[in-house]
Amino acid sequence: MSFLSASLDRVKPSPTIAVTTKANELKAAGKDVIGLGAGEPDFDTPQNIKDAAKAAIDAGKTKYTPVDGIPELKRAICDKFKRENGLNYTPAQVSVGTGGKQTLYNALMATLNPGDEVIIPAPYWVSYPDMVLLAGGEPVAVACPMETGYKLTPEMLEAAITPKTKWLIFNSPSNPTGAGYSRDELKGLTDVLLRHPHVWVLTDDMYEHLVFDDFEFCTPAQVEPRLYDRTLTCNGVSKAYAMTGWRIGYAAGPVELIRAMGKIQSQSTSNPCSISQWAALEALTGPQDYIAESRVAFQRRRDLVVGMLNEAPGITCPVPEGAFYVYPSIAGCIGKTSAGGTVIADDEAFATALLEETGVAVVFGAAFGLSPAFRVSYATSDAALTEACTRIQTFCKGLK
Ligand SMILES: Cc1ncc(COP(=O)(O)O)c(C=O)c1O
Repeated sequence: MSFLSASLDRVKPSPTIAVTTKANELKAAGKDVIGLGAGEPDFDTPQNIKDAAKAAIDAGKTKYTPVDGIPELKRAICDKFKRENGLNYTPAQVSVGTGGKQTLYNALMATLNPGDEVIIPAPYWVSYPDMVLLAGGEPVAVACPMETGYKLTPEMLEAAITPKTKWLIFNSPSNPTGAGYSRDELKGLTDVLLRHPHVWVLTDDMYEHLVFDDFEFCTPAQVEPRLYDRTLTCNGVSKAYAMTGWRIGYAAGPVELIRAMGKIQSQSTSNPCSISQWAALEALTGPQDYIAESRVAFQRRRDLVVGMLNEAPGITCPVPEGAFYVYPSIAGCIGKTSAGGTVIADDEAFATALLEETGVAVVFGAAFGLSPAFRVSYATSDAALTEACTRIQTFCKGLK
């Protein structure tokens, strides 16, 4: 019998981290590689936030904190939900964790029993199915094709619900597609959920602030207040304030669930980093200029990437509403052979040949549960994006 836990057999390491690692290794070996795999803003954390962290260190705020967050931060999170989402929460309904990732993980660990199903619209953020599996549940991926804008429709949701469904994981704007649900689209889904009172909603609003054109962000409990008692609204500072390394995420929902999540945290990480919590407090309560500035830069990059990818033969790239990803279909490339002699049998072969022949690192669609496609993270400079997209165009022109 293996020394390792049997539950680990059910999960795989994160493929997006694997692509970033491979690209970094090639770069370190002197290869000319452009990495479009990383899911983090390329901007630096705003100065006021860094200053707040330094002040926290100097003030000795370097000790254990309450398990699921300092009261000041919990209060600021309640104010944020009220101000930006029209949602009323009290500090007892708030949990702060080590990144959005741990917050989501805590929620799944706190609620799933063997056999419980979790509906995950695909393409999905790579961690959802594996987190569900680690927590002992069963992920139920629902394919949302390009034709529906990579979005779940009410009919698809209705068909996926069974008596064993515990959660719907709802991520808008989405990683990996950038798709954002309008209020009407979301209302269609919440109407279905109203008919199934045993299904809870786990929202992932991590990209709330990265929305473009006139898109209006909405979250389920805001659109349908009757779902408030069975919704966990998750968010974080990582993407909104370029704070991926600080590891602060948070959630708000029913007190019983928040207490259960705290129990898990108390026996695993004890509390999120004290200094990062003070930094997150400044992020939520200090000047918000960074959000608007980064939005302008990301929208410009989105337009650049979508335009250039749509000029590559065999690629169709929809225009996403938000986040910093595009998810082009490569249906028109499948079955062809690259200039380097690789048969493009699937999107993994495409991504591998693209990296080896042109030095552009992207993540293949199968990692996100919907093929044939790939994900581009455009959180990098305009110059790098232009060069990468030119290489992708050349690669596609070379397919025979
Ligand atoms: C959709 C989505 N949810 C959650 C996370 C995790 O965020 P954090 O860095 O705060 O753990 C990510 C990060 O890539 C993400 O893309």
